[in-house]
Amino acid sequence: MSPTVRATERIQSLDILLNDLAVGTLVRTPGDYNAFNLLPGYRSLDKPPIFSLSLRAADGGLRRDPKPIRGALPPFFANLLPEEKLRAAMEKHHAATVRPGNDFDLLAALGTNLPGAVRALPSDATPVSTGRKPGGNRKVRFSLAGVQMKLSVMKKEGGVTLAVDDEHGQYIAKFPSLTHVGLSENEFAILALAEALGMDVPARELVDTTEFAGVPEEFNIMSSGKVLLVRRFDRTPNGARVHTEDFAQVFGRYPSEKYVGAAYHNIAAALISGVSFDAAIEFVRRLAFAAITGNGDMHLKNWSLLYPGDGRTPVLAPVYDVLSTIPYLPKDGLALSLAGEKSFKALTPERWRDFANRSRLPEGAVITAVAETAAAVRDKWPLLPERDVVPAQVLERIDAHMDEMAKVLDP
Ligand SMILES: Nc1ncnc2c1ncn2[C@@H]1O[C@H](COP(=O)(O)OP(=O)(O)OP(=O)(O)O)[C@@H](O)[C@H]1O
Ligand SMILES: [Mg+2]
Repeated sequence: MSPTVRATERIQSLDILLNDLAVGTLVRTPGDYNAFNLLPGYRSLDKPPIFSLSLRAADGGLRRDPKPIRGALPPFFANLLPEEKLRAAMEKHHAATVRPGNDFDLLAALGTNLPGAVRALPSDATPVSTGRKPGGNRKVRFSLAGVQMKLSVMKKEGGVTLAVDDEHGQYIAKFPSLTHVGLSENEFAILALAEALGMDVPARELVDTTEFAGVPEEFNIMSSGKVLLVRRFDRTPNGARVHTEDFAQVFGRYPSEKYVGAAYHNIAAALISGVSFDAAIEFVRRLAFAAITGNGDMHLKNWSLLYPGDGRTPVLAPVYDVLSTIPYLPKDGLALSLAGEKSFKALTPERWRDFANRSRLPEGAVITAVAETAAAVRDKWPLLPERDVVPAQVLERIDAHMDEMAKVLDP
């Protein structure tokens, strides 16, 4: 029997699953209203796996369903989709079924391979069009947030293969930037430094762009240089999904609000109440790490929760997307405000104490976490083997920023 092929735009309702558990429905109505409703079956579960902390009411139960939204998906779902040029490439690749700028179409097209354990499948069980002519090419079908050109890939016998149709990629391949020299090498070295400090960092390696054969041209990876491969923490080695959500989702903010939707003390406070005190302190260490390495891009989508095992207990997800932005943007500061400040140079112990109070963390624990992180970076960075891959002019600027930050943090 040949599968029924239909345009994604005709799909009006998506079943939302967490792995195999039906959680809710996402429906679009005439007039382009999008409504997400939890299923009574999910609501009646005793201790269900968590779909999103944003659905948790003050009493620990589930909130009422939100009102339908006109012309946009609810923030949780909008945050599952790629942004900017990655989105444009994915829209072009699925042009037969996806209208430009239409989040619902794109979610329907990519719904079998979303971040974490969420699946979005047509409610009438009609297979989504593959857009494939008999004998034609298979489709690249994955969704990852973020703006940088990336692919979800598998590694087989030393080579890198693109995950297509229902295949799951085990790695994220982040392609080099045409404008920012040594971006992959920079992220590779800063991830290695985070690991040297004892942080939880996925396995990664640098590979050459020539390893990638057969990538459709709309993904425009023709730039030269190294590609950063990072092991996906939301997929297990045997391909199972592990649920995850970023802090734009936790706070119900849209991707466009990732630099303004909350402050760092909001994340710390959410970690204390939703995860643990230790997770909040680990967050402080990573925040200090961002300040010391000159990373101005730790917005709401660069921090996530992971829901391993039975999916009921969130943990702080491993470190990802950390690099020094200072070599490219010398005037850069923090992505979100820390006790009302974004400038790296303003991050004195006094500022961290203010941040501790806003977060409801003990001042002493915050000051110690910051000081220990600074000392560990001073110890580990000069001897880190991965420094050697970073272009000299980039390295010089990172080193100079670290020297300045040592004085700021310990005046
Ligand atoms: N190792 C990983 N395992 C699973 N998911 C990941 C991993 N690294 C990143 N992600 C997810 O993929 C998204 C995009 O990755 P990343 O943040 O590295 O890309 P980016 O394009 O550089 O982002 P930005 O827009 O912040 O610059 C992240 O927001 C996160 O949801
Ligand atoms: Mg990112």
